Amino acid sequence: MVSAFGHIPVLPHEVLAALRPSPGQTYVDATAGLGGHASLVAPLLAPDGTVLLNDADPSNLARAVPVVEAAAPEVRVIPQQGNFAELPHVLRRKGLCADMLLADLGFASSQVDDPARGLSFSKDGPLDMRLDRSLPMSAADLVASIPESELAKLIEELGEDRHARRIARKVVQARARTPIVTTAALAEVVRSACPPAAGGIDPATRTFQAIRIAVNDELGSLEALLGHIEREAEQLATGPGRWLAPGARIAFLTFHSLEDRPVKRSFQRLQSLGCTIHDPAFVVATPEEVARNTRSRSAKLRSVTFPMK
Ligand SMILES: C[S@@+](CC[C@H](N)C(=O)[O-])C[C@H]1O[C@@H](n2cnc3c(N)ncnc32)[C@H](O)[C@@H]1O
Repeated sequence: MVSAFGHIPVLPHEVLAALRPSPGQTYVDATAGLGGHASLVAPLLAPDGTVLLNDADPSNLARAVPVVEAAAPEVRVIPQQGNFAELPHVLRRKGLCADMLLADLGFASSQVDDPARGLSFSKDGPLDMRLDRSLPMSAADLVASIPESELAKLIEELGEDRHARRIARKVVQARARTPIVTTAALAEVVRSACPPAAGGIDPATRTFQAIRIAVNDELGSLEALLGHIEREAEQLATGPGRWLAPGARIAFLTFHSLEDRPVKRSFQRLQSLGCTIHDPAFVVATPEEVARNTRSRSAKLRSVTFPMK
């Protein structure tokens, strides 16, 4: 299941089993990426189905749309650029009610592989990291202005790096000499603060993760989307759905505990509102999939079904 651009969607069979698409339904892909999952779901919605493709990154969205249209010519494909936290408003404005929603969190290979996006410490590029370039603050802006104690806290909490305080001190010392505006410069400073890498993992990995999460407010957006889903479950208990249909199936693919924890907690609250958590509570990739697709290594799929009323 390799899509165009050589992209392999994570846990493809398991995502289809969780969403159970059928003809005429409406599928919302909160994180269209390169259209990998959407082009598997879309053909199963024909005829008369609808796919809303959402992504914060306009360049990924532009690549995903033709891929999904080619996979399912009989299905209506609606592109939407924006943060998935805004999806409920978008769907209501368009008069759509979703039967399925998928959020495959984080970033796509196309984004990491492009040095101009500034997400990679293995290829030098501008220290940007914004998935949506209209966001006001790039990684370079953040690194230039954040106080040392806040930077240490950020690297500790969002990067779960025990060298956070040393890294923050080195960054502040380095930026006093020269502004840190490239990924290579930041990676070099971080490496200089850490003992040699164990197990082949670059010491810059965790700091880059932390800064990327902060620049894109990834956890804030996730909490906002989960909050909207919970409010919709409350609404469905007493009246018609506003953007999710009765029986809607919702799936989240997470890649680290900072993403997985809020999804797990939110699903527990959804259960108390009458939703059914799918069994097993989460699915991970088989060793065969991990061998084919390294991105699946840390993936966890959690899914839930809304009550029919
Ligand atoms: C892992 S990729 C999705 C891959 C996709 N499922 C596929 O199979 O091609 C994640 C995508 O989510 C987007 N993204 C991340 N956070 C987002 C957010 N808060 N709102 C909208 N899109 C977001 C990224 O720009 C990226 O394109």
